[in-house]
Amino acid sequence: MTRRILVTSALPYANGSIHLGHLLEYIQTDIWVAFQKMQGNEVYYVCADDTHGTPVMLRAEKEGITPEALIARVSEEHQRDFSGFSVRFDHYHSTNAPENKTLCENIYRSLRSNELIEKREVEQFYDPVKAMFLPDRFIKGECPKCGAKDQYGDSCEACGATYQPTELKNAYSSVSGAAPIRKSSEHYFFKLSDARCEAFLRQWTQGEDRLQPEAANKMKEWLGEEGSAKLADWDISRDAPYFGFEIPDAPGKYFYVWLDAPVGYLASFTALAQGLKLNTDDFFKADSPCEMVHFIGKDILYFHALFWPAMLKFSGMRTPTRINAHGFLTVDGAKMSKSRGTFITADSYLQQGMNPEWLRYYFAAKLNSTMEDLDLNFQDFTARVNSDLVGKFVNIASRSAGFLSKRFDGVLADVTQNPLLQTIKTGAPAIAGFYEQREFGKAIREIMALTDQVNAYVDQNKPWELARQTGQDTQLQEVCTVCLEAFRLLSIYLKPVLPALVAKVEALFNITSLNWSDLGRSLGAGHRVSPFTHLMQRVEASQIAALIQANTDTLLAAAPTEKTQGKNTQKSSEKKAEKPKPAEQAAPAHIGIEEFAKVDLRMGKVLECKRVEGSTKLLQLSVDLGEAEPRNIFSGISAHYSPEQMTGKMVIVVANLAPRKMKFGISQGMVLCASPNDDTSLFVLTADSGALPGMKVS
Ligand code: 2FM
Ligand code: ZN
Repeated sequence: MTRRILVTSALPYANGSIHLGHLLEYIQTDIWVAFQKMQGNEVYYVCADDTHGTPVMLRAEKEGITPEALIARVSEEHQRDFSGFSVRFDHYHSTNAPENKTLCENIYRSLRSNELIEKREVEQFYDPVKAMFLPDRFIKGECPKCGAKDQYGDSCEACGATYQPTELKNAYSSVSGAAPIRKSSEHYFFKLSDARCEAFLRQWTQGEDRLQPEAANKMKEWLGEEGSAKLADWDISRDAPYFGFEIPDAPGKYFYVWLDAPVGYLASFTALAQGLKLNTDDFFKADSPCEMVHFIGKDILYFHALFWPAMLKFSGMRTPTRINAHGFLTVDGAKMSKSRGTFITADSYLQQGMNPEWLRYYFAAKLNSTMEDLDLNFQDFTARVNSDLVGKFVNIASRSAGFLSKRFDGVLADVTQNPLLQTIKTGAPAIAGFYEQREFGKAIREIMALTDQVNAYVDQNKPWELARQTGQDTQLQEVCTVCLEAFRLLSIYLKPVLPALVAKVEALFNITSLNWSDLGRSLGAGHRVSPFTHLMQRVEASQIAALIQANTDTLLAAAPTEKTQGKNTQKSSEKKAEKPKPAEQAAPAHIGIEEFAKVDLRMGKVLECKRVEGSTKLLQLSVDLGEAEPRNIFSGISAHYSPEQMTGKMVIVVANLAPRKMKFGISQGMVLCASPNDDTSLFVLTADSGALPGMKVS
C-alpha cells in the first residue's frame, strides 16, 4: 500500500548560516525521503526558515534593514546551500507567512477554548533605554563567583560557574549598555501542568514507537513520577517590541518564537498543498491515516516531544507519527570550533569546490538510528571516500565501461542469469530495511560488501587481459556487461545517498530515472550505453586543509565581534549566548597541514633510562626509533617519572628536531608530554599497544 508521508527537518534560524552540523540533519532526512520516494510512496518533504524572535529583530536593526528584508536574504542563502547539497525539499517556506499566522491563531483559540491558556504576571529584565524586555542572552555583567567581566546571564566563561541572570554583578543590557531593571508584565501560558496534558503526554511519549527508546526514557524523566507535577506551564508570549505574530485579543503580546516554529511545518505543507491541490485535512485531522515524521536534533526534543504533541492534541489535530532525533556533529573528535576552523559553513565547503556527495556518503556511512553524536574525522572521511566510494564503487564502471564502448559500440550482452547479479539483487530487502530504520551505516556496509564481490569478479575475470587476447570478444563483452549491470544495481541502492552521481550513471546507461523496482529488470542484450565519462574525483588532503583555512579566515575577518553559534551544540538560539569558549580563545594560531607535516613524529621505545648527575630535572634516555642506532635524548621529566617507569615505555619523539648540545651531552630529539599551564603535573604521551619503534605519528 502506498504510504502518504509528510516529512520535516527542523527549521533553521533566519539569523545564521547553514553549517555542517545542520547538514547532518538535512542530509539524513533527504536520504530517508529519497528512499521512500524510490519505493513509490507519496512523500512531501517540507521545511522553512524559523524567522521570529528578538535576535532577528535586533540584527535587522543593526544592519539598518527591516526584519522582512533580512529574512528574505537569509532564506535565499539557506535555499542555495541546501540545493548545493542536493537536499530536495518539496517546499521551503517561512514562519513569517500568512498560512502560519492563521494556523497559530487557530491552534491558540482551540487551546483557549479548552481552558488551557492562562494569564500570569511575570517579572523579567527590562532595558529602560531600549524600552524592551531582554532575553537572558542579551544581559551581561560580572561573574558572581570570580568577578570576570562581560559574562553572559547564565554561565561564566572564565570559571565555568552557572547562575541566574539576577546574580550577575553590575549587569548591563548588551543592546543599549543600560543597567537592566526588573519589570513585570502579563504573560500567556499554555497550561501543560493541566492533568489532561500530563495524562496525554505520559501515554503519548511511551507508545507506538513514536520516539527512540532513549528519547522515550528522557521523557519519562522529564515527566517525573505520576502526580509529581514536574511539567511546568509554558510561557508562550513575549511583549512588544518583538518580531512575530500578535496574539489574538492581546494587543502588544506576541507568540513566542518556539510556539510558531513547529506550526511552520504545517504552514509549509499548507502552501505546498495549495499548489498541488491536496487536501491538508487528510494530513492534519486527528484520525489522519497519513504519517507525519519529524527529523530533529536531540537538543530540541523537549519542544517536539512534549510541547508540540500537546499543542496539536488539544487543538483537535493529529499528532506526530514519529520523531527521529539525531546526535550532534563533532569534527575531528571535538565540538565544532570557529577558532580551529572546524565550524564549517555549507557555503565554504561548496566554494572550495569540494563534492557535496562526499559528505553525503560519509554521513550516510556513519549514521544510525540512535541519538549518538557523529564525528566527522577528516582522515577517515578522505579514506572512506577515496577507497570505498571512488576506489571500489566508481572503479567498477571505469574498469569495464571503456571496453564496451571501444570494442562493442556500447552494446550490452545477455547476462540475465549471471549468479553475481542474482546475489546483488538478494541484498535488496536487507538494504531497504536498513534505510527504512535509518540505519544508513548498515545499508552502506551491506552495499560495500556487494561492491567488494563485484571487484573480486573483475579481478578474477581480468577484462584487460581478455581484451589483449584474440577470440575472447564474447567473453569480454559478457564480463563487462556483468560489471556494468552490477554497477547499475548498486547505483539503485546508493541513489538515496548519491543523487548527483547516480544521475550521471543514469545518463551513462541512457535511462531516465532508476527506481527500486528497477532491481527486478535488466537492461537486456542490445541495450546501448554511452561512452564512459569520469564520475567522481578523489578527495585531496590539500582541499581539507584549504577548507579549514577558509573557515579560520572567516573568523579572523569577523573579529572581534564574531561569536560562536549555539547552545552547547550547533545552532543559535534565543536562550543561549553566542560567545567563544575560553579554550577556543586560548587556541594558538593555525598552521596548514603542510607545516604540520614538517614535524617528523616517530614512535620510540625507551631501551634505557638513567638520572643525570648534576641535574634535578633531566632524565637521560636511550630510545629506539627503528634506526641503526638508538638516540640519546635528555628529557626534563625527572620530577614526574623515575628511570624504572620510563624503561620499556613507548614514547612519541620529535625525530627531526635539530640536535641540541647540552651541558651533559647532545640531545637527539624530544619526547612529547602533556602538562597543564602551571606545570604541576606531566604525562608522557604514548600509543595504543601495537605501535612499533620507528612508526610515523601523524
Ligand atoms: O533549534 C533550532 O534551530 C530551531 N530553529 C528549530 C525549530 S524546529 C521547529 F520547531 F520549527
Ligand atoms: Zn566566573
